Amino acid sequence: MANGISGRNLAVMASGVALGVASSRLLPPLLAQTFGDVRSRMGKDPLERLTQDHRHILSVLQQMEGTSVDELARRARLFLSLKRTFAKHAMAEEDVVYPLLHDEVRDVEQSKRLYAEHGEMKILLFEIEQALMERRSWNEQVRSLRSMVERHAREEEDVEFPKLRQALDMRRTRRLSSQVRREEALVL
Ligand SMILES: [Fe+2]
Ligand SMILES: [Fe+2]
Repeated sequence: MANGISGRNLAVMASGVALGVASSRLLPPLLAQTFGDVRSRMGKDPLERLTQDHRHILSVLQQMEGTSVDELARRARLFLSLKRTFAKHAMAEEDVVYPLLHDEVRDVEQSKRLYAEHGEMKILLFEIEQALMERRSWNEQVRSLRSMVERHAREEEDVEFPKLRQALDMRRTRRLSSQVRREEALVL
């Protein structure tokens, strides 16, 4: 081809664009993984972040309980904050923490129960979203979710996370930190 863009150049450009798209999607999780490594090398507990999420989720649920049906914008904002934090948190626990509890700590029944409890929480989240859309009171479901999260979080913080900390050596704790950050970064 004398001038213009040859087929080969087009293919090269297309693969470049594809690579750019792929890397733009992969970049946040990769950066998060690197950041997770740095944090754990500096002595940060990878499970501390998940404990902070528990505090945030419980605080949002408390605020949700105090809203009236007319406060549509505030209710929507609180619900989105809850849903986003819950999604990130559940992904990190379900894809990284619970499999380690299952395989490394050998807490087989316990890890299965924690997965099941997340399932129940997701059903309540769905019901809360329905109430929001239909402008109905969500107080009953919010209260149920709050007491479920309180119980579940207390068990993770007081029983399961300490077992995991004890079971993992420093190298695996570093990996856990990276993996938790990567899972969180997958939820925008
Ligand atoms: Fe959990
Ligand atoms: Fe949790």
